[in-house]
Amino acid sequence: MALAFVVIPALRDPELQPVRAKALHLMGLRLRVVGWVSLAVLLVTGLYNVAARGFGLSDAFTGVLWKGAFGRTLAEKLSTFVVLVLLNAAHDFWVGPKVTALALRSGNPSAEGEKWRKAALWLGRLVFLLSLWMVALGIMLVRGRPF
Ligand code: HEM
Repeated sequence: MALAFVVIPALRDPELQPVRAKALHLMGLRLRVVGWVSLAVLLVTGLYNVAARGFGLSDAFTGVLWKGAFGRTLAEKLSTFVVLVLLNAAHDFWVGPKVTALALRSGNPSAEGEKWRKAALWLGRLVFLLSLWMVALGIMLVRGRPF
């Protein structure tokens, strides 16, 4: 949210044009670390939450873990988590670096740079929406599904 609603709009200031690509690159690298640490914390605390409910690893293989409304919601949540991690990896380690490398190399916007920038933008938006859906699924695990 900070990148989309604060950093990028602020960097559009014409006075910042000479340093825009470099500034975005440096902030992108820092945000990447914060993002992956957050996902690691959510995975570890999530696994703890599953264990705190009395489930063990074998329950995942016998199918006991996936039974009932809680099990179905947890399965949906974990599959969403895997998709979110893969999209986030594509954004952070492939498309994102490609955008900044093209911007740093040419300095001026190019058709190819614009194509990759749009890809990074849509990947970022998708990861953002999936993260919100993960929060909703988390609340449904605790409070039950409204539908
Ligand atoms: C982007 C990643 C994630 C987000 C944003 C997220 C968010 C949440 C939220 C908001 C809750 C509800 C907390 C409450 O109302 O008390 C929750 C609960 C829960 N989450 Fe996650 N979670 C994530 C990843 C995971 C993962 C990877 C797992 C499993 C490995 C997991 C397992 C659980 C469990 C079992 C609960 C229920 C806790 C209970 O029994 O009270 N979560 N999560």
